[in-house]
Amino acid sequence: MNTVIVGAQWGDEGKGKIIDILSGKVDCIARYQGGSNAGHTVVVNGKEFIFHLIPSGILHRSAVCCIGNGVTIDPESLIGEIRGLAAARISVVNRLKVSSLAHVIMPYHKVLDKLREGKRTHRIGTTGRGIGPCYADKVNRCGIRMIDLLNPAVFGEKLRDNLREKNEIFRKVYRHPGFRFELIYRQYCEYGRRLKPYICDTSAYLNGAIGQNKSILFEGAQGTFLDIDFGTYPFVTSSSATSGGSCIGTGVAPTKIDKVIGVAKAYTTRVGEGPFPTEFEPAFNDIIRTKGKEFGATTGRPRRCGWFDSVMVKQAIRVNGITSLALTKIDVLAGLPVIKVATAYKYKGKTFKDFPGDYDALCRSVPVYKELKGWSETPVKADSYKKLPVACRDYISYLSDVCSTDISIVSIGSGREDTLFI
Ligand code: GDP
Ligand code: IMO
Ligand code: MG
Repeated sequence: MNTVIVGAQWGDEGKGKIIDILSGKVDCIARYQGGSNAGHTVVVNGKEFIFHLIPSGILHRSAVCCIGNGVTIDPESLIGEIRGLAAARISVVNRLKVSSLAHVIMPYHKVLDKLREGKRTHRIGTTGRGIGPCYADKVNRCGIRMIDLLNPAVFGEKLRDNLREKNEIFRKVYRHPGFRFELIYRQYCEYGRRLKPYICDTSAYLNGAIGQNKSILFEGAQGTFLDIDFGTYPFVTSSSATSGGSCIGTGVAPTKIDKVIGVAKAYTTRVGEGPFPTEFEPAFNDIIRTKGKEFGATTGRPRRCGWFDSVMVKQAIRVNGITSLALTKIDVLAGLPVIKVATAYKYKGKTFKDFPGDYDALCRSVPVYKELKGWSETPVKADSYKKLPVACRDYISYLSDVCSTDISIVSIGSGREDTLFI
């Protein structure tokens, strides 16, 4: 059984936790897009791990973890994660495979990411990890791939070509001194030497595993509304975060995918700029942010919070072919007398049931809300769904009805044990 896990909102839905839970029952976990802009949290026995590039299933010692060709890799970040795991006595040797075709994030990508933000009228609020510029070079056919780091002659030529053009742009457009060849060349050749044991043809590996009836979990990063095509463009990331990206980003064909699980928070959050129709007023935003510890796992930035938006999640279900939802952080809503769910938008006197593609409509839409009764407390340790308060279960079944989908997993805390299967 091969399953894609995908964020149904603006990222940070709790994908890391759900992937860790499901990883106990699969053979391989594969990241397919994004880069170290992702921050996926897994909490085991009270110890918190945050993964940026390494798949969130790595804590299961028999699982093989792949970083697919669709991911952009910052070697320094990857080496740091490998080292962090080693310090926690978790070895990745023979269990981590990095695609030779994945593109490499270079120092000039990170600097350009920040400089471009400074020049924009409307900042995107990127993570500053060089993601956009690296994907832009990939599409521009001047990117550097992991395999290039293993061949100093090829790498040197590509780097020289890049620096010739980029340094001119850095100096003339951004008044930045540019980059020296030698320093980057030496450093990245060294990264190549350190990462060589992991670099391979991950598409061949994954397809071979499927041929032996092994099961794969595809780990989406970011979320549907940060997807380069289906997100709230231009306030998006630069990759295909939706389920289709799992095929392009790993070299596993669509005919091999069996299930798509969408992960959604019981409310909505967003980090960075861009429209957010159900966003709370500032004072209430602060309350939920504190209660839900809504601070970015990568940048530490405060996340913006709002009500669950079924218009969005329905669109995510359609675009990704989601077969069931995992609903997270339901515990954070306990104690509220009333909980709202957006069911439609009003714009220029008309009611819309579908998520608008038009930027102006998205910015000015006023959500139409359904109000539901809250509950006072979510049990700290609930071992069965039936032990959740009636109003909490009513809220979950309303979300299932309004989104016309099954909710197969409910998460009531960050730990593995705080997970209910329906
Ligand atoms: P991801 O990027 O989708 O993996 O999500 P993040 O790790 O960035 O953010 C999710 C945060 O919520 C992390 O701090 C998790 O430990 C935490 N979390 C996940 N599920 C639950 C839950 O059901 N309840 C609570 N209170 N926290 C959760
Ligand atoms: P995970 O995988 C939430 C947001 C940034 C910014 C926009 C573009 O942990 O859910 P980028 O650096 O990608 O060019 O930034 O996307 N963003 C995320 N928001 N969770 C993430 O990842 C994100 N990765 C990028 O905040 O708004
Ligand atoms: Mg995150």
